[in-house]
Amino acid sequence: MANDNGGESHPSGEGLARLRAACENCQGCPLGATRTKLVFGTGNPDADLMFVGEAPGGEEDKQGIPFVGAAGQLLDRYLFAVGIPRESVYIANVLKCRPPHNRDPLPAEEDACIGYLREQVRLIDPRMIVCLGRISAMRLIKPDFRITREHGIFFHKGKYLMTAVYHPAALLRDPSKKEDMLSDMEKIREKLDLLRGELDTTL
Ligand code: URA
Repeated sequence: MANDNGGESHPSGEGLARLRAACENCQGCPLGATRTKLVFGTGNPDADLMFVGEAPGGEEDKQGIPFVGAAGQLLDRYLFAVGIPRESVYIANVLKCRPPHNRDPLPAEEDACIGYLREQVRLIDPRMIVCLGRISAMRLIKPDFRITREHGIFFHKGKYLMTAVYHPAALLRDPSKKEDMLSDMEKIREKLDLLRGELDTTL
């Protein structure tokens, strides 16, 4: 998968390819100089469901693809369990470059990078956005988001339906959260089925 292009050979992915090129040249914060590979995003450029994590980890930095390390493999298992093919969704992060030692993103790094994510969302135009973890939820849903209390709750933001689930890395640290994760992912699948059904009846 090292030559993954995030579905940009698809006709509607051309805007994403241009955006990726802009990110490749970005030196908007110091992480552009310390990363190994840019982790732009991957998946279906026409996805109706988009996942947004925090920032690339070590394995992602090596491969240039989001969620391919241990946390990503766990995410894959939840996607499989609820019948959502990974290749049907789009996966990106708040930051496109790895923070050293996997520390939390700094506000200045998020500010420098968030415009790229906004443009990605505009181009993909999903119906639902799922934040993976509190950092993404605090940035995309609301600054005071509390993941332990508010995971699995749906929020309307503009034209997007949004929710957050535990970050898969948090599940690796605390397996007692796994039950909640499965039920949140099942709710996401059900909501997506409803949205897709609504679309069918309007055609
Ligand atoms: N954690 C994230 O938030 N994103 C990745 O891509 C990998 C791990």
